Amino acid sequence: MSSLGAEPDKKIEAVILAAGWGTRMASKLPKVLHHLAGQELLRHVLTTVAHLEPESTHVVVGFEAAQVREALDDMNGQITWVTQEQQLGTAHAVQQATQGIGKGATVLVLLGDVPLITEETLSACVEQAADNSICVVTAEVANPDGLGRIIRNAEGAIEKIVEQQDATDDERRITEINSGIMAIPSEILVDLLSQVSSDNAKKEYYLTDIVGIAKASGIEVTGMKAADADEVSGINTRQQLSALERSHQRKLARKLMAGGTAIADPERLDIRGEVTAGVDCFIDVNVIFEGEVVLGDGVSIASGCVISNSRLGNGVRVEPHTVVDGASVAKGCTLGPFARIRPGTVLDENVKIGNFVETKKATLGRGTKANHLAYLGDANLGEDCNVGAGTVTCNYDGAEKHTTKIGNEVFVGTNATLVAPLDIEDNAFVAAGSTITKTVEAGDLGVGRGRQKNIKGWRPPSARGTDKG
Ligand code: UD1
Ligand code: CA
Repeated sequence: MSSLGAEPDKKIEAVILAAGWGTRMASKLPKVLHHLAGQELLRHVLTTVAHLEPESTHVVVGFEAAQVREALDDMNGQITWVTQEQQLGTAHAVQQATQGIGKGATVLVLLGDVPLITEETLSACVEQAADNSICVVTAEVANPDGLGRIIRNAEGAIEKIVEQQDATDDERRITEINSGIMAIPSEILVDLLSQVSSDNAKKEYYLTDIVGIAKASGIEVTGMKAADADEVSGINTRQQLSALERSHQRKLARKLMAGGTAIADPERLDIRGEVTAGVDCFIDVNVIFEGEVVLGDGVSIASGCVISNSRLGNGVRVEPHTVVDGASVAKGCTLGPFARIRPGTVLDENVKIGNFVETKKATLGRGTKANHLAYLGDANLGEDCNVGAGTVTCNYDGAEKHTTKIGNEVFVGTNATLVAPLDIEDNAFVAAGSTITKTVEAGDLGVGRGRQKNIKGWRPPSARGTDKG
């Protein structure tokens, strides 16, 4: 909003329509709680609208309110909940919210099932609405089926919006659709809403009718065309949701590729959060990113990995089917295949984590290796250690968690059971098959196992001719 303009910033009152189950989803989950790119549809809208700094954000919910409120509990501070007991239509829904809206505001109506609307389009729409004029966000789409059509007159001005069910064959051929999003000065909104009737195919109070009513009462209606049809895509069915998800994912993949990441197949990558990557990373098929993920240069991620809220340094290799969550991984590390790196894992340079190794709240120093079948939980390991297959830190006594501390250049033999709290000092050695419960001092060998006994000339029962009856 330009500082040159004399007009002060507009007071925005956001109204998000989110009531009803969305019966066509065939779900026990309210429609606006279904996920797109890892987030509820309604959360997308709320996050975008927050950037416009509205005076308040009114969210209209119905009988499913409890579920919606619970799912968005963390955003409660920014929401004014409005209840619409019966879903009598979008105009009726807006009407419920207007009671809490004063004069002098620009009401920005959004739909909870139109998740990808951008901040840019919304602020342009708000800017274009004026004291005596409404602005409607529209889009040109290839398939307008099921949507409201924008009817323009010979001069190209918007005359009205006609819903699919009420449209003539000619009107149905129009490809400019109503996004459902509009900005209206609060003074005229209340008046226009009171004139809407339910005399239509669905017997609902359509918000879209206020456009024709406005026009007839000399109020100007302008359109703001969204740059991209996905921005205004509404979700009524699971098919529409999956189509929008793929389209959105394709864009996210394109953005990563433009920044220098190689993607084996952009159709088989899912970003449910935000990924930043250096150059020359490679992402194989069926990888999922969640939350905030930061990749250095030349990171390679093999097929079937799920990487959440983690940082992977330059040259890190993640082998197939590895799960990395809440970890910080320094350059040159190798993880997997089939490894599970859990929150609080911090790996220094060139650490190797192999197959079926699980780490949790574990720090591993430079060059340390755990190549097969191990659990390292609540453990601090120094540099250049070798952790043998089958090693388990026993970190939990049933009541509390305890820490295992391992120094530098420690060799832990195969199948060691390390009972925490425990210290294994620098250069110590743990014999294979040991259960270690006491400190192993620097340079010492810790052995904690029964000794082998061989019985001379032993015969199995079968060879002794035992009669089993
Ligand atoms: C609506 C528009 C249509 C537009 C399309 C864009 C109307 C009459 N139609 O149609 O012109 O092309 O969106 O996606 O506005 N809702 C309530 N209370 C109600 C009814 C709906 O809160 O009584 C909420 C729903 O939760 C939903 C949103 O409003 O999030 C839109 O309602 P929906 O029934 O999906 O409208 P569409 O038929 O898609
Ligand atoms: Ca809809």
